[in-house]
Amino acid sequence: MSTPAKTTSQKPARGVDLWGGHFEQGPAPLMEQINASIGFDKRLYAQDIAGSCAHARMLVKAGLLSATEGQAIQDGLAKLKAQIEAGSFAFTAELEDIHMNIEARLTELIGEPGRKLHTARSRNDQVATDFRLWLRDAIDASDRLLQGLQASLLARAEEHAESVMSGFTHLQAAQPVTLGHHLMAYVEMFGRDRGRLRDGRARLNECPLGAAALAGTSFPIDRAMTAAELGFTQPMANSIDAVSDRDFALEFLAAAAIAAVHLSRLGEELVLWSTPQFGFVRMAEDFSSGSSIMPQKRNPDAAELMRGKSGRIFGSLIGLLTTLKGLPLAYSKDLQEDKEPVFDAVASLQLCLAVAAAMVAGMSVDTARLHAAAGVGYTTATDLADWLVRAAGVPFREAHAIAAQAVRRAESLGCELAGLALAELQAIDRRIGAGALEVLSVERSVASRTSFGGTAPAQVRQAIAAARARYL
Ligand code: ARG
Repeated sequence: MSTPAKTTSQKPARGVDLWGGHFEQGPAPLMEQINASIGFDKRLYAQDIAGSCAHARMLVKAGLLSATEGQAIQDGLAKLKAQIEAGSFAFTAELEDIHMNIEARLTELIGEPGRKLHTARSRNDQVATDFRLWLRDAIDASDRLLQGLQASLLARAEEHAESVMSGFTHLQAAQPVTLGHHLMAYVEMFGRDRGRLRDGRARLNECPLGAAALAGTSFPIDRAMTAAELGFTQPMANSIDAVSDRDFALEFLAAAAIAAVHLSRLGEELVLWSTPQFGFVRMAEDFSSGSSIMPQKRNPDAAELMRGKSGRIFGSLIGLLTTLKGLPLAYSKDLQEDKEPVFDAVASLQLCLAVAAAMVAGMSVDTARLHAAAGVGYTTATDLADWLVRAAGVPFREAHAIAAQAVRRAESLGCELAGLALAELQAIDRRIGAGALEVLSVERSVASRTSFGGTAPAQVRQAIAAARARYL
């Protein structure tokens, strides 16, 4: 969508009198400033024009416009669309919003038929329709970006299906996992984000047009026709609901906020992992920045901003919830505040999704470092306890205590679990046999986690194949 031309405050010689001569005075400049939405809702121009085209065709079919009038409206709207996209359409705040800017200019262009277009509709159902159409497209674009991020994660997961690293709980070394498994966790999260967007899209996809101001209309309109023309599944069932609610925007923002949480956690891990202390990954140069004072720095700014922008998206959700919570039915001008938070959240979400995909694809992974850190912190202590259960019939609670003693012994000797001699282990519990030594390596540990959804490379490869089939 090209950028619409800038808003001017030039006095328009409009073919319409906004309030039908009911007002003697124009608005105060401050009134105009608080009231006008054209500065941001001009982004809805394509949807507004599509809605008007569908409405005009329906009016012709219903016998409320002649075919000639209908054609003049279609041609005029097409011209206006081209003007907007060429940047030659002068939006004006005097005409408040996108709906009146377009209608007034259409009337200037084609005369009388332009003045008939608003039959059987109101800006209230118009704006609700435009916004739903806009958000539907934004949801589809977001879904494609989420898919792109999943593809990027899947490629790296496949590459590292066997790369052993430490998994963490409490950010303390916990048990060995593979990097592939860890990355696949995000593939699942982003998959559910796509599901949430899809669910919300289905509920969003009903058409408010024809609800008019709030009560419906006395004209014999065909709401099913306009709904179908605009790609909606059906007209909304209640005219008051149609112009009042913005739950579709809330649902999107809630889904976006959850996706932003996932992006933020991924960003946080990349920030952490790219420190010299972790050293698990190195962000590509083109997604890092240096320091103006410290020559050695490579800062993960993009990952940090991915984490940081989540706050804006949460803010959009909370802001719109707050705007809506006390509103009596039906339309109140407060509802005009619905658009900017959604526009901002869509922009932030889409940018972060694209950045995340590129960062994941471009980062280099230090597998040697990952491997070296995988066993640090006695991460195979559970494997020793499991071995005692499996091979020696020791109850798990007791096995847990024996393995804890082994950890203490290794700590006092300053070695890892795999560094303990069999005699040392047998001194702790004589039931520990030679077989136990084998389970203490990180590779064996990881390979043993073959339960469904577990980190064994064979399981990870299966999970990758399943996710490719499901998501890509
Ligand atoms: N610009 C308005 C909005 O965004 C359009 C609807 C105006 N309706 C009205 N009754 N003033 O909500």
